[in-house]
Amino acid sequence: MQRSCLAVILAAGESTRMKSSMSKVLHPVAGRPMIAHVTAAVASAGIADVALVVGRDAEKVAAAASVEGVSVTPFLQAERLGTGHAVLAARAAIEKGYDDVLVTYGDVPLITEQPFLAAREALAAGADVVVIGFHTDKPTGYGRLLVKDGELIAIREEKDATESERAVTWCNSGLMVINGGKALDYLLQIGNKNAKGEYYLTDIVEIARANGGRVVAVDAPEAELTGCNNRAELAMVERLWQERRRTELMVEGVTMVAPETVFLSYDTAIGRDAVIEPNVVFGPGAVIESGAIIHAFCHIEGARVSSGATVGPFARLRPGANLAEGAKVGNYCEVKNAEIGKGAKVNHLTYIGDAEIGADSNIGAGTITCNYDGVNKAKTKIGHGAFIGSNSSLVAPVAIGDGAYVASGSVITEDVPDDALAFGRARQEVKPGRAVAVRERALAIKAAKKAGR
Ligand code: UD1
Ligand code: CA
Repeated sequence: MQRSCLAVILAAGESTRMKSSMSKVLHPVAGRPMIAHVTAAVASAGIADVALVVGRDAEKVAAAASVEGVSVTPFLQAERLGTGHAVLAARAAIEKGYDDVLVTYGDVPLITEQPFLAAREALAAGADVVVIGFHTDKPTGYGRLLVKDGELIAIREEKDATESERAVTWCNSGLMVINGGKALDYLLQIGNKNAKGEYYLTDIVEIARANGGRVVAVDAPEAELTGCNNRAELAMVERLWQERRRTELMVEGVTMVAPETVFLSYDTAIGRDAVIEPNVVFGPGAVIESGAIIHAFCHIEGARVSSGATVGPFARLRPGANLAEGAKVGNYCEVKNAEIGKGAKVNHLTYIGDAEIGADSNIGAGTITCNYDGVNKAKTKIGHGAFIGSNSSLVAPVAIGDGAYVASGSVITEDVPDDALAFGRARQEVKPGRAVAVRERALAIKAAKKAGR
């Protein structure tokens, strides 16, 4: 779209019902602050300039709102005098002159770019105000859209509505687009003579019409407009977000055996033909390439699992874990900041941190990279085709060469060259027949105790 647009995001609400020490819009949905979901939708709609109206935590909220593609300017609304008053807090931004001024709320994290695009299209087609409405069977509390001959003639707030107006089920989402050339003129005409004594943004409908403007409403899905006022609603919004994203991924070719037990982050990327078994949790920054398999009960965050690699069951991949093609990380393993080479196997009960493991190496059960001395972190490098015997401790910094072999139970503190065999444990001694003597002594002690009683 060629028209310029400013998005004004209202987030100065007091969040009383969240009973929280931080602003409501900072609470995360799918691992990302609510407000960032809104600015991401704004960015997807091709809108780069955001005026953010805040009442508290201005710096934090502005920082959380800054996603790729938008530039965010915070405006403080010191007194909370209503939605019309809130938009005017961003007056300096509106005065810069935009073709369109979009108003949205900061607590609608399920919003997508679609309603914004539809509303802006209707504005471009000749309207002066376009309100985004939704149909609902629970209209209580919302402003009602009063329509006549295809035009929106008023939005009536619940408290100001007559009985017949309350029966209307087409409701105001609060989101709208206003002709940028007329926005300020309209906004400055909003008064506060109503049941709540607030400056209602919704009055802009009648004001625009009184000034010869055309006002229409466009429809959007109720689910996208779900707001979030308390923790129960936060959990509901999370559930709706998860359901929507899982469905998208499955439609794109991801297999989920029990999707309702898989938890995604806002940026979880999963390729075609990947299989995600039950009870898997993705933190931010997970990339699962096509054909990878994530077995049940894994926790994966900031990690990449390449094509054909398998993880779990019961594995934890922490930030910086990168599994190359065909690599395997099995049960009760934790991997952090480590490259696991092509076809390498880390199958059982192992911690790999700050490490590089070459292709086709085999890391035995119970291997630990000792990467931390209590002060500093150090790196373990393992070449390709190496074999680390079970229950080995690799004390970093240390390097194990290509094709090297570490004997089980070793504590490795020095580098092992290519193709070398390293023992780092006490040598075994065998005393023929000595077990008999040990056993006889034990039996004698037992008999003496019994006689003494
Ligand atoms: C508003 C609409 C109502 C609509 C509903 C949808 C008005 C008068 N009413 O009602 O028609 O159906 O939203 O949810 O606009 N805010 C500020 N500063 C203020 C007041 C509000 O930033 O001074 C922000 C809030 O943080 C919130 C949003 O604006 O994000 C809506 O405010 P709220 O008080 O919840 O409006 P409602 O009374 O629910
Ligand atoms: Ca509300």
